[in-house]
Amino acid sequence: MSKSFYLTTPLYYVNDEPHLGHAYTTILADVLSRYHRLFGEDVHFLTGTDEHGQKVANAATKAGKDPKLYCDGLAQRFIDVWEQLGISNDDFIRTTEPRHEKIVVDVLNKLNEKGEIYKKDYVGWYSVFEEQFFTEKDLIDGKDPIGHRPVEKIQETNYFFKMSKYQDWLIDYYTKNKDAVLPEFRMNEVLGFLRKPLEDLCISRPKSRLSWGIPIPWDTDYVTYVWFDALLNYYSATLSPPEGTHPTWPADYHLIGKDILTTHAVYWPTMLKAADLEPPKHIFAHGWWLAKDSAKMSKSTGNVIKPLDLATVYGADVFRYVLMREMVLGQDASFSEESFIKRVNSDLANDLGNLVSRVAKIQSKHFPGETLHLEDTEEDEIFELARKTTFSVRTMVENLQIHSAIEETLQFIRAINRDFTLAEPWKSAKSDPQSARNALARALEGIRIASVLLSPIMPNKIQELMKRIGAPASDQYEWEDTAWNTTTRAKESFFDEPVFPRVNAPKQATEKKESPAKKEELKISPDGLLPIERFKEVELKTARIKSAEPVKGTDKLMRLEIDLGSEERQLVAGIQQHYTPEKLVGKLIIVVANLQPAKIRGVRSEGMLLAVRDGDSLNLLTVDANVPPGLKIS
Ligand code: MSP
Repeated sequence: MSKSFYLTTPLYYVNDEPHLGHAYTTILADVLSRYHRLFGEDVHFLTGTDEHGQKVANAATKAGKDPKLYCDGLAQRFIDVWEQLGISNDDFIRTTEPRHEKIVVDVLNKLNEKGEIYKKDYVGWYSVFEEQFFTEKDLIDGKDPIGHRPVEKIQETNYFFKMSKYQDWLIDYYTKNKDAVLPEFRMNEVLGFLRKPLEDLCISRPKSRLSWGIPIPWDTDYVTYVWFDALLNYYSATLSPPEGTHPTWPADYHLIGKDILTTHAVYWPTMLKAADLEPPKHIFAHGWWLAKDSAKMSKSTGNVIKPLDLATVYGADVFRYVLMREMVLGQDASFSEESFIKRVNSDLANDLGNLVSRVAKIQSKHFPGETLHLEDTEEDEIFELARKTTFSVRTMVENLQIHSAIEETLQFIRAINRDFTLAEPWKSAKSDPQSARNALARALEGIRIASVLLSPIMPNKIQELMKRIGAPASDQYEWEDTAWNTTTRAKESFFDEPVFPRVNAPKQATEKKESPAKKEELKISPDGLLPIERFKEVELKTARIKSAEPVKGTDKLMRLEIDLGSEERQLVAGIQQHYTPEKLVGKLIIVVANLQPAKIRGVRSEGMLLAVRDGDSLNLLTVDANVPPGLKIS
């Protein structure tokens, strides 16, 4: 039987509008699920919504709706967003479902019967936003210590779970299971927290104050505290009727954000221990996405990025790729559309996309429709690198280092690119066709393996890419598919449009709308003079020519590959009669970097170079110093 792998996201507050933070955790969980399915494991991936508590009750009252009906409408928003982002969850749990409420009641009854619960008078400070009580000494400047939001003093009689009793057990458990909380520095944080005496946990709310919750089974004047209720979802979702067993418990990973570490790493394992249940194997806390100015994204500051805005504009798979590539294990990351675009262009349009179109074009030109046989791979560098990359990617994913796994795969893609450039199959296609075939087959097989490795990140785009190289497209590859195919390569089919189009300027809805007065200011004056703003719209940059070749069938056009610092591009320029390729390679030139791509005699041109004509001679503009490529000209 294959190994089972159970992982969860937090249950999102149902009244929140799905945002980048929610999308990140869910995409991370999806990517891990898809990788583990690729490894042949029997994955169970759970997400859902947290629907009880003060926050939801207040929002329902404000909307003038019955809380349950209110939640029904809102939960659907999450379901829809996940579908659009290609999330392959096996289950979606809502804390208002009977299957969950039954488990909460069973666990409460069990703890009560075991003497783990008692009633006492209590004074505490409650944060509705965090749905948490704090003691006076927890507060920072009279505000909650997590989000610095207002708290209200509450004095009431409530039920308590004897959490303090489990402090020593928990310290001992974490000392023996150092990877139970990840990354390591988060475990140190938890152990630091456990150095202070642990208090008992208030697990009820009087119905007179809050009626929206699961009733305490033996005292209907009370409902269950929202966190006690919500955490149990991870266990209730594993219930397998009719036997009533929980075959996938304990969870392999609870993925959470760093702000909900204490509830998961302290409340949750002690609750489970008291209920004689096994603790989760790992809790992994990721960092926060911050806006460019390092502020946490939040609704109140208005800097929340709506995931669908970006996913709609750039495509869900590209969005998934950038999020996974940009956040380093456990650290905070800053988000801006500019850095998003930079990543799309450098990794996807340039490294991967360009390679695919170069290889496909050369095959379709020289060996159209042919199945390629690869000769002798054992000595081959790309073959060896494919093996190494496959192994490292698996190890990195098993250690949750998704950003490193992606980078490792991209290094492999860059190596295929270099190998292909050095082999020059476009030159040897006639003189030594078998060597050209080998170079093509090597590149195609390398791309295919890299694509299998990237398929959990971009499940749809990779299928599209596979079709272009004539490889089998599937939404679920197997680990065997990462093995080098030594005998044949299927025929390719050539498509004109790039798989990953370059993005030239921000496209998101955040684009500023010009006011009529501003529009007036930007007009060219009657004497034909340009306002400086109009000139600033043109992005001029230094670029280094990496390679040059005449465009076949023309006597004027030259195809150039240029280095723009952070990316490489292809330009077509009418300079063939003025420069030989040898004279061009290595030259530093000036290009217009933000032009819409154009097709010149069927060849894509991504920008324009600057030159000056003097009679019959044409001279490229350059810089009077040895400066690097990619500098902005101002
Ligand atoms: N309902 C609780 C979880 C109960 S789990 C039994 C909750 N919900 S939440 O909707 O507020 O947040 C869910 C997750 O989103 C948290 O893990 C939180 O860290 C994450 N994020 C919210 N904003 C975020 C960012 N700006 N960046 C990354 N993730 C952040 O807490």
